[in-house]
Amino acid sequence: MNRSPSPLPAIELAVELGARSYPIAIGANLLDDAARFAGAIRGRHALIVANDVVAPLYLDRVAAAIRAGCEKVQVSTLILPDGEAHKTLASAARVFDALAAMKANRDATIIALGGGVIGDLAGFAAACWMRGIAFVQVPTTLLAMVDSSVGGKTAVDLAQGKNLVGAFHQPRAVIADTAALATLPLRELRAGFAEVVKYGALGDADFFAWLERHAEALLAREPEPLAATIAHCCRQKASIVARDETEQGERALLNLGHTFGHAIETAMGYDGLLHGEAVAVGMVLAARLSASHGRAPAADTQRLIALLERFGLPTAFPPGLDADLLLGLMQLDKKNLSDNLRLILWRGVGRAEIVPDVDLATIRTLLS
Ligand code: NAD
Ligand code: GLY
Repeated sequence: MNRSPSPLPAIELAVELGARSYPIAIGANLLDDAARFAGAIRGRHALIVANDVVAPLYLDRVAAAIRAGCEKVQVSTLILPDGEAHKTLASAARVFDALAAMKANRDATIIALGGGVIGDLAGFAAACWMRGIAFVQVPTTLLAMVDSSVGGKTAVDLAQGKNLVGAFHQPRAVIADTAALATLPLRELRAGFAEVVKYGALGDADFFAWLERHAEALLAREPEPLAATIAHCCRQKASIVARDETEQGERALLNLGHTFGHAIETAMGYDGLLHGEAVAVGMVLAARLSASHGRAPAADTQRLIALLERFGLPTAFPPGLDADLLLGLMQLDKKNLSDNLRLILWRGVGRAEIVPDVDLATIRTLLS
């Protein structure tokens, strides 16, 4: 099918990591950009990993673009079941089986076509196969475009907790086709805005105010503000990752709301709130905790809640969840350095801070 070129030129950014630097392209119909794929793919084998929701929508186009751009590359596909519940070691093993069936050695590239689940999982498999092969992120959800496809965090979940097994492994390119957002269910689009609001909340008051002015246009998927938003978030993430690739310091700020959020997702068996929804609730809990200690203005917490609610996101602790179960799960969080919790707390719109030693009793009171 002939797709008309986007009226907006693709936005080109980069993550600067020396020899491992890579481009991020954001624009409509990039899934058909054979030359861009040719520039990103290395080796003789390309395995496109997608799920059974995204594959019928976009897999053929990506495979055709890769075949057109890389004539000598053997292209195979793997379609996994949809959902966070499948971001597992068992799914990673299916990627390894597919690579083995192709007789792929290090001379291979994995293309992750989908949301954050496929991106994290396929990236993890790429980090492990023969101790690391190339991979390309082709994010198709808003959440993946603004956050998970950039920065090289890859992982799978265990029943005991989210993202407990993983690796830092940077992609060779991020190719974000904003036209793919047209088919994204509204609930998933809303979930992506939780991570968007996070960037404003943790480090950019002007962007937060811009989101307050443009929330309705963004929810209506207006191409220009949407592309500008994705680019803004990627720029912010790329600059943090360039300074702190492996989260020795400031990168942890990107986890605002995530310690609470991950525990909520795990407690609900990865089948309750979406990741973005859990992060929205988590950010509000972090803000309330900060406000109760006088570290953040209560009025800013109200602003945060109001903006999240305009994006249609939940802001209240889900009823029926046990505070002690959640606390136990939070103690498994990767950021912790002691029995107390290392949390990202809030100082108000545009400022977050790493607090190394929040005592459990304080959090228990908040959750109950
Ligand atoms: P997801 O990958 O499950 O995608 C959401 C849903 O949308 C799925 O049902 C998917 O099949 C469907 N979908 C995807 N693209 C579509 C499209 N264009 N049209 C129609 N349907 C589409 O979820 P997500 O919100 O993208 O990602 C969440 C995951 O990302 C979590 O596992 C989270 O831990 C991870 N994450 C990772 C990082 C990181 O830095 N690596 C950052 C944030 C989140
Ligand atoms: N999403 C958090 C990070 O990439 O560091």
